Amino acid sequence: MKILVTGGAGFIGGNFIYHELANHPEDQVICLDALTYAGNLETLAQAMENPRFRFVKGDIADRKAVFDLFEAEKPDIVVNFAAESHVDRSVTDPEVFLRTNVLGTQVLMDACRKFGIGRYHQVSTDEVYGDLPLDRPDLFFTEETPLHTSSPYSASKASADLVVLAYARTFRLPVSITRCSNNYGPYHFPEKLIPLMITRALKDQSLPVYGKGENVRDWLYVEDHCAAIDLVMRRGREGEVYNVGGHNERSNLQVVKTILKELGKPESLITFVTDRPGHDMRYAIDPAKIHRELGWLPRTPFEEGIRDTVKWYLDNRSWWEHILAGEYQAYYEKMYGGR
Ligand code: NAD
Ligand code: TYD
Repeated sequence: MKILVTGGAGFIGGNFIYHELANHPEDQVICLDALTYAGNLETLAQAMENPRFRFVKGDIADRKAVFDLFEAEKPDIVVNFAAESHVDRSVTDPEVFLRTNVLGTQVLMDACRKFGIGRYHQVSTDEVYGDLPLDRPDLFFTEETPLHTSSPYSASKASADLVVLAYARTFRLPVSITRCSNNYGPYHFPEKLIPLMITRALKDQSLPVYGKGENVRDWLYVEDHCAAIDLVMRRGREGEVYNVGGHNERSNLQVVKTILKELGKPESLITFVTDRPGHDMRYAIDPAKIHRELGWLPRTPFEEGIRDTVKWYLDNRSWWEHILAGEYQAYYEKMYGGR
C-alpha cells in the first residue's frame, strides 16, 4: 500500500512515519509537508535513507500541488497530521489556523474524492471537547461528548472534524478520526510544555508555568498514539471517531517537577507567569471504544516515557539546539537546494 502522511516533518507525523516504515515493510510512505516553523527535515533524516520513503515539500491548502501529487502517486491511505498545532500561537494569530487546519483538510478530501481513496484518516485532538472541571474527576470525554471549543486552535480542529464527517455522509468518503490527548516523546518541538521545560532546565533557565500550574492534561507517549492511528486507519470502522488516551492525568506542576527530578535540577527554576487566556482546566479521555473495538491499550507508563524522553533530549542535543538557533530551517536548502 501507498500511504500519504501529511505534516510528517512535525512531532507526531515524524514518529508515525518511523512507526509505519518499521512495522509495515510492505508499504511505501510519502510525506507531504510545507516545512513551516514546526516542520523539521532533520527529524526525517533517517527515513530519507529508506527507499520506501519519499519527501515532498508542499502546502495541503495548495489545491494544485495536492491534486498533482494525488494524480502522480494515487495513495491508498491519506493520514492528515498537517496543522498549526500550538494553542498560544492561535491566540496571537488565528488566521493561519483556519487556513491550514480547515481549508487544508477540505483540499485533501477533495483530492480523495477526485482520485479515489481506501481511507482518509484525520488526526484530531481531545481539545475539540473543551475542558472538564478539576473537581469532577469522575468525568471523561467520550466520543459522544459535545464539541465545545475554547481556543482558535481547538475551534479549527473541531471545524475540520465536522467537515470530515460531512464528506463521509454526503459524498460517502471512507474516513475515520482519532481524537487524542496530549502527546510527549522524541522530536517534540520545544515550544510545547514538556520539551520546553526539558531544554530550558538543561540550560538552567527559568521554567514558565502558567497560572498556578494546576491545569491537568492526560499525557500519552507518542508511540502509543502512532499505534492507535495505525490500527484505526487500517481496521477502524468507516465514518467513526475514536478517542485515544491513557488515563494518565497530571497537573502541569507535577509534570514540571518530574522533569526536574529526572534531570537533577532544583525546583527553584520554576517561575509562575501570567495565565494563558481561555486556558482549558482539565482534559481526560475515555478510550473504552478503541479498546473494545480494536484492542488498543497504551503500553508506556508515564514514568518510563518521561525518562526515555528526557534521555532522548540529552542524547539528541543537536536536534533541539539547531531549532533554538534557527539552523534547522536551512536543512531543506542543504538537502534539496541543488535538486
Ligand atoms: P507539529 O506542529 O509538531 O507539526 C505539524 C506539521 O505540519 C509540521 O511539520 C508543519 O510543517 C506541517 N504543516 C503545517 N502547516 C502545513 C500546511 N499548510 N501544509 C503542509 N504541512 C503543514 O504538530 P504535532 O504536535 O505533530 O501534531 C500533529 C497533529 O496531531 C495535528 O493535527 C494536531 O492537531 C494533532 N494532535 C496533536 C497532539 C499533541 O499533543 N501534539 C495531540 C492530539 C492531536
Ligand atoms: P501545551 O504543551 O502548549 O499543550 P496544550 O495547550 O495543547 O495542552 O501546554 C500544556 C499545558 O502546559 C497547558 O496547560 C499550558 C501549560 N504550559 C505552561 O504552563 N507553560 C508553558 O510555557 C507552556 C508552553 C504550556
